[in-house]
Amino acid sequence: MHHFHYRQRELFCEGLPLRVLAEQYGTPLYVYSRATMEQNFSRLQQAVAPFNGQICYAVKANSNLAILRLFHEWGAGFDIVSGGELRRIQQIGADPGKVVFAGVGKQDWEIRAALEAGIFCFNVESEAELRRIETLAKQLGRPAPVALRVNPDVEAHTHAKITTGTYQNKFGIPYEEVESLYRRYARSRWLQWRGVQMHIGSQITSTRPFVTAVKKMVSLVHHLQQRYGIEFFDIGGGIGIVYEEALESGETKWWETARGRRMLTPEKFGRALAPLLRPLSLRILLEPGRFLVGNAGVLVTQVLYRKQIGRKRFVIVDAAMTDLIRPMLYEAYHQIVPVRRVPGRKAERVDVVGPVCESGDCFASDRPLPVVKEGEFLAILSAGAYGMVMASNYNGRPMPAEVLVEGEAARLIRRRQTIEELMQWELDGKTL
Ligand code: LLP
Repeated sequence: MHHFHYRQRELFCEGLPLRVLAEQYGTPLYVYSRATMEQNFSRLQQAVAPFNGQICYAVKANSNLAILRLFHEWGAGFDIVSGGELRRIQQIGADPGKVVFAGVGKQDWEIRAALEAGIFCFNVESEAELRRIETLAKQLGRPAPVALRVNPDVEAHTHAKITTGTYQNKFGIPYEEVESLYRRYARSRWLQWRGVQMHIGSQITSTRPFVTAVKKMVSLVHHLQQRYGIEFFDIGGGIGIVYEEALESGETKWWETARGRRMLTPEKFGRALAPLLRPLSLRILLEPGRFLVGNAGVLVTQVLYRKQIGRKRFVIVDAAMTDLIRPMLYEAYHQIVPVRRVPGRKAERVDVVGPVCESGDCFASDRPLPVVKEGEFLAILSAGAYGMVMASNYNGRPMPAEVLVEGEAARLIRRRQTIEELMQWELDGKTL
């Protein structure tokens, strides 16, 4: 469910027309719906309550401080992957004691910062990292809470670039080697085994891969609990969202009824895992990112030009791969709709492309769209996760602004970068 709907002919985010926001703040513009995030959060929280599931929001999906503040307010913990993300958590005044820290390449300064902050746990991805954490913990005189990230070698059936839980990936520690590492480091003065973690991939759209992976982990988890007294099992993130019929799915009560497509819902996820997880009587952590924010954000863009080459029609917009790279990087589908519907307009097949000098700078190819004219606005849907956080300044393009909508109020939560700001880090420009 989400809160982007047409009222008469205008596309609204909650109680505000996107056109008004685009005119006020300029484009390209990210617009987020607070109510959608809150609903996603509470819906998932309820679905995992039967097995004592606790949500650690994956900061990487959307790390805007205003959005982090919301999840903090709603009681979430956080899953971070860098010292930079840790700093953000500290900035909003959240308790580092509710933070898990993942990543295959943690640097010394990041490990030190996390130890000093007193995070809940490091999710460790190699023996080498475990040793490094031990050394740094000893130097600081503070034992480090640790969990191993297990690579269960389970296929998540998602895009290759976002699969993480097989032996083709760099992530985690092979399942077979896990127990021996717990054993060998059990007596370390500077490491405290606190839990065990897995994460098999992202944008997973059925319960099956989760069930397979958890089934594989259950006896290991039980053993680690008995032998080493671990307190939690972190099952990672990865719950997929609707991209293909994103708008329609917001207008039906349950996602799975959108044009008959059956989607993974929090309820199905919870029901499938409860029988496996409840008997463990452990704290279960989850690290959802996309599910919480993906459908809560859109990227609003303005049509600059139209052109035709041979038989192909192009709609050139002011947003680019620098604002939303998912279509280029993962061949990801994002639904695109006009911000204002004009009755009687025919549909045509077009490529919706950005201004960047790359053929891959293309949001949609051969996509049926109502005919749109120069100056009109389009909304690229489901852009709340892995959108703004992956933006870049390629081609000298300033990053877009972000607006958070709450009912009939809108708040600028990130102002548009200026061209001058883009040059401020460079050191030998004569004009600086
Ligand atoms: N936990 C760990 C250890 C992760 O690596 C990730 C995502 C998550 C949690 C959150 O996963 P989610 O619930 O959001 O699926 N840029 C890509 C997605 C990369 C995901 C990386 N890891 C995309 O735009 O599809």
